[in-house]
Amino acid sequence: MSDSTLFKVTIDNITIEVPAGTTVLNAARKIGGEVAPPAMCYYSKLEGSGGKCRTCLVEVSKGSEKDPRPMPKLVASCRTTVMDGMEVKNITSEKVIDARNGVVEFLLINHPLDCPVCDQAGECHLQDLSYEHGKEGTRYEFQRRTFKKHDIGPYIQLHMTRCILCYRCVYTADQLTNKREHGILDRGDHAEIATFIEKSLDNDFIGNVIDVCPVGALTDKTFRFKNRVWFLKPMDAHRDCPTCSGKVTLWNRGDEVFRVTARKDQWGEVEDWICNTCRFEKKKTSDWVIEGPRMIDRHSVISQGHYAGNVGTTIPTETFEKVHNGRQPNLLMDIHDVSNVNKQHIRLSLLERPAHSTDFTPNQD
Ligand code: SF4
Ligand code: FES
Repeated sequence: MSDSTLFKVTIDNITIEVPAGTTVLNAARKIGGEVAPPAMCYYSKLEGSGGKCRTCLVEVSKGSEKDPRPMPKLVASCRTTVMDGMEVKNITSEKVIDARNGVVEFLLINHPLDCPVCDQAGECHLQDLSYEHGKEGTRYEFQRRTFKKHDIGPYIQLHMTRCILCYRCVYTADQLTNKREHGILDRGDHAEIATFIEKSLDNDFIGNVIDVCPVGALTDKTFRFKNRVWFLKPMDAHRDCPTCSGKVTLWNRGDEVFRVTARKDQWGEVEDWICNTCRFEKKKTSDWVIEGPRMIDRHSVISQGHYAGNVGTTIPTETFEKVHNGRQPNLLMDIHDVSNVNKQHIRLSLLERPAHSTDFTPNQD
């Protein structure tokens, strides 16, 4: 069958035609909106990705025109190709919603309640997914997994407790750099991301693992804890870079560049891979030619921080001091001094394990 053959597929009662060989996920993305299933491990730019996380499950209620029998089980839409006349249910299927709720519960079994401190907050796909499908409590009664800390180099921080083993970073390192040194070691419940003999990841393009990680397991050491993404203004910028395309998004507050990332499309996937020099070392506005504000989905919390109308690097008016009778913001932010919530002597950031509910018992020792 030639590649130009078009197949008719109906997803959530919307019919489109797509070339033979297209996956159900990509056909649904063509329709867009909520019809597109969430994807935590599939990444269109990474060969071999998908099939790991099961968040993209859909129900095939009619296999094809020739064989209209439904598929007996839910299938991973990122790994299932369309057939002519296929009918698929995503948000219109109760079975799918129920299964997705279960998948989210499993993904969260070992995940720490890190959102208040995690640098990925505001742009974490797991956080979004748990808002849409998660439950307020967990049925898991055991201690969450803990890991030996791995130092994976000067630029990238690995928090293994947050990893969902999607393999995206492994494929990125494999396909973008010529010297992959990290991978998933061990199997099943023991599987973890690690570097062989703790080598640092120092390839020119390795910083891209930060952008592909759907959770906060891999974050940018040059940006950690410096600011929240929704307080920053994302702007498209470029520079003449000898290594990569030089097309990036700058995350600024005023004229201070807090971080540099690749530009991402509507599915949260990188448009052009960028090099480590652009990402980690060009942190001055003068290093860049600014093109204008980056369009962010209006439902994202990041778009709340846009100080509209100020194209360029105008610093937003700081109002902390004004509304708090001259008190400095850092006094307000020292939660250990002002809060009765945590035990005073416990610094959650220094715990060698995930925080447990007992760490939050009001002032009991
Ligand atoms: S570190 Fe991030 S990108 Fe890598 S496998 Fe874990 S969740 Fe996926
Ligand atoms: S996106 Fe399909 S299994 Fe993960």
